[in-house]
Amino acid sequence: MDMIKNIGVIGAGTMGHGIAQVAAQSGYRVCLVDINAEALERGLAAVGKSLDKLVGKGKLDAEARQATLGRLTSSSDLADLADCDLVVEAIVEKLEVKGAVFKQLDGLCKDSAILASNTSSISITKLAAVTQRPEKVIGMHFMNPVPLMKLVEVIRGLATDQATFDAVHGAAERMGKTAVEVHDGPGFVSNRVLLPMINEAVFCLHEGVGTAEAIDEVMKLGMNHPMGPLALADLIGLDICLDILRVLQEGFGDPKYRPCPLLVKMVDAGHLGRKSGRGFYDYR
Ligand code: CAA
Ligand code: NAD
Repeated sequence: MDMIKNIGVIGAGTMGHGIAQVAAQSGYRVCLVDINAEALERGLAAVGKSLDKLVGKGKLDAEARQATLGRLTSSSDLADLADCDLVVEAIVEKLEVKGAVFKQLDGLCKDSAILASNTSSISITKLAAVTQRPEKVIGMHFMNPVPLMKLVEVIRGLATDQATFDAVHGAAERMGKTAVEVHDGPGFVSNRVLLPMINEAVFCLHEGVGTAEAIDEVMKLGMNHPMGPLALADLIGLDICLDILRVLQEGFGDPKYRPCPLLVKMVDAGHLGRKSGRGFYDYR
């Protein structure tokens, strides 16, 4: 029997709004929470736009669109997640901030609730350790853009139990995704492999080996990647890319993960990619 009916999603940014959308599309009742009212508005608008696109392409009918929106509520208060069976956290990629939210969730969610993180790189075991329910804490790592990408990396922390793993694996599959099991380690599999490639592309740009367009074209036409690494970094968010590299660098203690100074500079300048209108390319 499906134990998960109500899902909470925290963070209405690039990832959170997409997770809320696919969960609501799949029949779950979803509450999307963000501390920033503007971000919540933007996230809900992005869900509407994405659903419209899917309807336009015949991948969703108008009735399903309405039903999806009918299952989606929003709030700025974590306390509204008290009744959720599964909470997926998708806020900033910072251990301290996520840890504080997990502690709060542990206090207010029902005992049976599963607490999942969409983190790109941070230790699930560490997040679990701030709670009194480490066996119910797990990584549920969706890929961007969530409505289109098939993978969910499901990450077991040291204490994650089988029932939690099975429930989250089942929920990912119900959302039309393919769940792949991995164990806890900096960047898991996805970003341990992806981010060094993106960082190397930024070094190529930094050192003048090629223009952004040339670097991306080489990887698109030469390696059949759907988009080049710099365009992909803009899609992910340059701040997120930098945070992930720092987790890899600190976690492995290996200088090969050091972030390119150009990436650091761009984040300092607030050029965060698509979400800020400007990154390696201009979206304004
Ligand atoms: N909802 C609905 N439709 C969407 C959408 C969304 N959220 N996002 C994009 N689309 C639409 C596009 O608008 C486009 O529509 P049109 O045909 O009407 O223009 C359509 O989907 C297909 O897109 P495109 O034709 O422009 O391009 P595409 O066929 O290349 O597909 C893509 C787009 C799926 C993003 C593809 O470029 C791709 O796979 N890129 C790589 C993405 C990737 O690697 N993601 C992983 C990032 S890493 C990560 O997520 C982990 C992490 O922790 C950082
Ligand atoms: P984002 O910057 O687009 O959005 C983060 C949102 O979280 C913002 O709207 C912010 O207002 C909100 N927020 C911050 N602190 C909060 C709090 N305490 N309570 C409620 N809301 C809060 O970030 P994103 O790109 O959506 O990334 C979110 C998470 O998903 C990160 O852990 C990231 O590593 C991971 N992730 C990102 C991608 C990607 O491609 N961007 C892919 C997979 C996983």
